[in-house]
Amino acid sequence: MWRHLFPVEASPEARELDWLFLGLLAVTVLFLVLVFVPLLYFSIKYRCGSKADRSNPSSGSDLLETGWTVFPTVIGLGLFGWGAALYFKQQNPPANALQIQVVGKQWMWKFQHAEGAREINELHIPTGKPVVLLMTSQDVIHDVFLPAFRVKQDVLPGKYTTEWFTPTRPGAYPLYCAEYCGTLHSKMGGRVVVMEPADYERWLVSEGPRATLAASGEQRYRDLGCSGCHDQRGTVRAPPLTRLFGRKVALQDGQIVLADERYIRDSILLPASQIVAGYENLMPSYQGRVSEEEIMEITAYLKSLTEGEAPP
Ligand code: CUA
Repeated sequence: MWRHLFPVEASPEARELDWLFLGLLAVTVLFLVLVFVPLLYFSIKYRCGSKADRSNPSSGSDLLETGWTVFPTVIGLGLFGWGAALYFKQQNPPANALQIQVVGKQWMWKFQHAEGAREINELHIPTGKPVVLLMTSQDVIHDVFLPAFRVKQDVLPGKYTTEWFTPTRPGAYPLYCAEYCGTLHSKMGGRVVVMEPADYERWLVSEGPRATLAASGEQRYRDLGCSGCHDQRGTVRAPPLTRLFGRKVALQDGQIVLADERYIRDSILLPASQIVAGYENLMPSYQGRVSEEEIMEITAYLKSLTEGEAPP
């Protein structure tokens, strides 16, 4: 019955979150009753002029004191543990998730599939597999809010954020921007279309033959001249990128960082910020010369070079 009050649950994660919400609601109602029922009862019983027995007032009870300290503590910690477990799950997308790249800009959402399909304000995804959105903004802060999957995450310029869910129910679900981002903020939305895997495959084909994201990335890599230095044939000595993605990189300043999407993006736009140990600071910044989508393509290309290899 109560489910009618909620948006549809289109993923198992949505259901888990609803249970947490109901758990919190139940505890809140319990304490509301525990406090307000006696409060009402005593205010009537001991109202001014009533004949209630006022002799021998209570001077305290250890049992009661212990009870109302221990009982709420246990409940509070239980809720904390429950919420934290779900939070950590939400913050850690499964490794086998289908990655969709998302760029927000005033005032539209752009989506890129690994197979090469591109969409605006509409996202097609298959059922039965976790989907992770790798998101960034081209201008101001936006926020991808998908009520049917109970996920909502800010999309920030200069940074990647993610959100993931496992769509299990075919259908079309609303997509909103949930961060005020200018005049047309309220129009910045669209829909997520969840399809059976076979329908999804057909949809990908119907989008026409396209270069995969990794292939477009390789093209950019050559066009922008990255290959000139990084392909080990040139005269400039630059770190090789073929076995980079997902590995640990030692930097000149002694730090060890993971070569993930963020690292690659920063290395393209702010190359001087992370010099690989043993190399010189020679690379120019590509700020303004490469778009967020192109960076995501290049990242997909570098990722494809290490795909299927076990990390060291
Ligand atoms: Cu984008 Cu609000």
